[in-house]
Amino acid sequence: MKKTWWKESVVYQIYPRSFCDSNHDGIGDLSGIVSKLDYLKLLGIDVIWLCPVYQSPNCDNGYDISDYRRIMKDFGTMEDFEHLLKEAHDRGIRVIMDLVVNHTSDEHPWFVESRKSEKNPYHDYYIWREGRDGKEPTNWESWFSGPAWTYCKERDMYYLHVFAEKQPDLNWDNPAVRREVFDMMNWWCDKGIDGFRMDVISMISKTPEFADGVVEEGHQYGDLSPYVIHGPRVHEYLQEMNREVLSKHDIMTVGETAGVTVEEAKKYAGFDTQELNMVFQFELMDLDFGEKGKWNDVPPALIKIKEVMSKWQTQLYGKAWNSLFWSNHDQPRIVSRFGNDREYRVESAKMLATCLHMMQGTPYIYQGEELGMTNAYFTDMSQYRDIETLNAYRDFAQTGVFTHEHMMSCLAYKSRDNARTPMQWSDAPYGGFSDVEPWIGVNPNYRSINARQQTGDPDSIFHYYRKLIRLRKTYEIIVYGAYRLLDADNPDVYAYWRILDEQQLLVVCNFTEKEITYELPELEMAEKGEVLISNYQECRPKKGMSLNPYEAFAVLIK
Ligand code: GLC
Ligand code: CA
Repeated sequence: MKKTWWKESVVYQIYPRSFCDSNHDGIGDLSGIVSKLDYLKLLGIDVIWLCPVYQSPNCDNGYDISDYRRIMKDFGTMEDFEHLLKEAHDRGIRVIMDLVVNHTSDEHPWFVESRKSEKNPYHDYYIWREGRDGKEPTNWESWFSGPAWTYCKERDMYYLHVFAEKQPDLNWDNPAVRREVFDMMNWWCDKGIDGFRMDVISMISKTPEFADGVVEEGHQYGDLSPYVIHGPRVHEYLQEMNREVLSKHDIMTVGETAGVTVEEAKKYAGFDTQELNMVFQFELMDLDFGEKGKWNDVPPALIKIKEVMSKWQTQLYGKAWNSLFWSNHDQPRIVSRFGNDREYRVESAKMLATCLHMMQGTPYIYQGEELGMTNAYFTDMSQYRDIETLNAYRDFAQTGVFTHEHMMSCLAYKSRDNARTPMQWSDAPYGGFSDVEPWIGVNPNYRSINARQQTGDPDSIFHYYRKLIRLRKTYEIIVYGAYRLLDADNPDVYAYWRILDEQQLLVVCNFTEKEITYELPELEMAEKGEVLISNYQECRPKKGMSLNPYEAFAVLIK
């Protein structure tokens, strides 16, 4: 397998709004990030993925861009950005940018023009259709609830928005749109950035024919996914992007590919397909979907987690590159979701980290994950800020599909705002994130869960992540080894091998709070091995050993 820096890197994701506020307005900003670069250096990460910092009216916190070449006022200026880039590079940290080009803001000049008339030079930059008997062109439901079409009087037509009304989808079939996007990307690369995380990039090509989608129970509108995901020209467009932009710079790319299958991933991120370096798959994150889709409050069974992860580990091996993540700004906190954020918060956060970071692929750490930050557990709708959450409450609770109580429980488990509460730096007011009231409430547990406490405690989750990162840099088997699932039917323990040449690495993770007598035959070989990491003081692997609640370890056998 060819060795490259992005295969050997660990990425840290920053949601700037919630990371660190330097100018006392309760909103995180670029200078705030600069002030924390030494913290990231200490953690040992190689790359920062910066969520959108471009000019935006913020209907979706920066994922609605009105100018791709300007910095959002809340976050600072272009000088601040350049300063951040330089300071990061001086520390050996690369910076990749979020690239949101499936849609723009409705306040982007292209859309302001496009909506004016059919004769406007920008008329075909977006996806416009005639209405059907005075109604929307199709019955599609936006992913942020409500219809996916909005009527525009000036043109007497509807425009498509898979997300919010203020996020019109660009028409990638128009070569002028692709040209504009590629120019803009080259402009950022020339500034010296190190790559892109591409927002919903699997949706840039739509099917030529639009028809009504299936209306699922409890929904008013139809499912648009088959018409907008992995459209017929998506790979052609990414290959063009690769020729025009990506291949000209030494950068890394990761595609957010909603609905991606292993077969599709091999095209997006194949070693010889000339598209992207890797993709994010969401099969794992979708495991705790319920009858009504995302809004649910029941964690998935471990067997399912093992099945999905193993499928991706084995089927991409040698063909395409994996990415590894438990969390991001769209997902709840992993320790609250698949772990135990009460009596075993520290143990289970470390166990989850071990399970993921010993796998094959480039790991992503979402801000605060390295501290074991938990869900927000908001109890009142007024505490939520996220547009998806607010719309979902309207559509599910206010219409009676869910009771208020059930919806609040689903939101406490799943809302994106769980990941967006301010980073907990210290036990100072507002968690040291700001000295004024932040734009979204701080989790009150900041008094005990915070970076200052954990950087000073060698047994903390922070130092455990540090060690995992260091191991990845020391042992090639962690980066390049093959993967094999062990004990597939065990509902409580996740055990797997990594294999490289003569070496084997055995990873064992107890996903429960039970003490388990573990008879895995492979543990016999592990007796003579070297324990690289473990989340309990004492760890002596052997057949019939007793696993503590949420115990995890990795043993190297030469
Ligand atoms: C992606 C982003 C999410 C955003 C959506 C629309 O899924 O991760 O935060 O709301 O795209 O841009
Ligand atoms: Ca600020």
